[in-house]
Amino acid sequence: MASLDISSVLQGGYQHPLSRSWQAKRTLTKEMFMYPIFVTDDPNARVEIDSLPGQCRWGVDRLEEFIGPLVLKGLKSVILFGVPLKCTKDAKGSPADDPNGPVILAIKKLQSLYPSLYIACDVCLCEYTLNGHCGITLKDGTIDSLPSAARIAEVALAYAKAGAHCVAPSDMMDGRIKTIKRALIDNGLGNKVTLMSYSAKFASALYGPFRDAAGSAPSFGDRKCYQLPPAGKGLARRAIQRDVVEGADIIMVKPALPYLDVIQDAVELAQDHPIACYQVSGEFAMIHAGAKAGVYDLRTMAFEASESFVRAGCTLILSYFTPDFLDWLDE
Ligand code: PBG
Ligand code: ZN
Repeated sequence: MASLDISSVLQGGYQHPLSRSWQAKRTLTKEMFMYPIFVTDDPNARVEIDSLPGQCRWGVDRLEEFIGPLVLKGLKSVILFGVPLKCTKDAKGSPADDPNGPVILAIKKLQSLYPSLYIACDVCLCEYTLNGHCGITLKDGTIDSLPSAARIAEVALAYAKAGAHCVAPSDMMDGRIKTIKRALIDNGLGNKVTLMSYSAKFASALYGPFRDAAGSAPSFGDRKCYQLPPAGKGLARRAIQRDVVEGADIIMVKPALPYLDVIQDAVELAQDHPIACYQVSGEFAMIHAGAKAGVYDLRTMAFEASESFVRAGCTLILSYFTPDFLDWLDE
């Protein structure tokens, strides 16, 4: 009678739910999730975003009704995105650090309501520039690197001074990490504020719902001259190494699911840094659409994606599924 070799038999090791749980190097926890939220300049707004199921643009005066219940369920951190609808945009994105703009007001509000909530801020100009690009452009439409980095650093510093625990530049301008780090240090905030770099941010098709939500699509051209080409593994590795040297405290990869190899590269190249990933709007919308079409169960798929991020080496996941996981991880 044929018999299996000893080395062929793996199944004995994962027959029980508990022995299956021991297969993970790390398991998902609520601490791993950071929730991206959209704050707009109508203080009473609660406007659903069609392309992002269940997500809304919120006004500052309604943050308590939105975030309060989530904090009770164990929400630990948020990342703020400003969605200005009434401001006057200009070439250098002046409204980005308006002290009465939605981001700065939201930082102060959240900090006073929930002193233990960790508040990160996305830092970019695209929501605030006339042409919707993430930096300052020259007459020919190309990026002017030095003034862009300087302006991004000014905005990051304003958020840090307002009380953000973490600033996270998503613009992909060259040199912005060291410029921001320098500004934080020179203003006595070097040891008080975390700098999370969107280091390997790719020019992805998966940002569509976000651009709807934030009104940040460029009016001409695209972002391919600053966001990385999807096939550019080597460029991503260089960007990660550069940002480590320039003083980033956390390295992020974005989007997440199509770039698990890049997450793994980040783990290898930035061994002494926490690695984050951003499961972006299009990934979230895609998982919802697939579930709606009967391709899979929503929750099972959301877990599978998150577990893949952790398996690749992330300890921080920026995800629109955060409120769902606060429930699911209790069950
Ligand atoms: C803007 C920014 C984008 C996202 C985060 N910050 C969009 C873009 O680069 O066009 C994407 C987030 C998402 O899709 O969920 N700098
Ligand atoms: Zn941008």
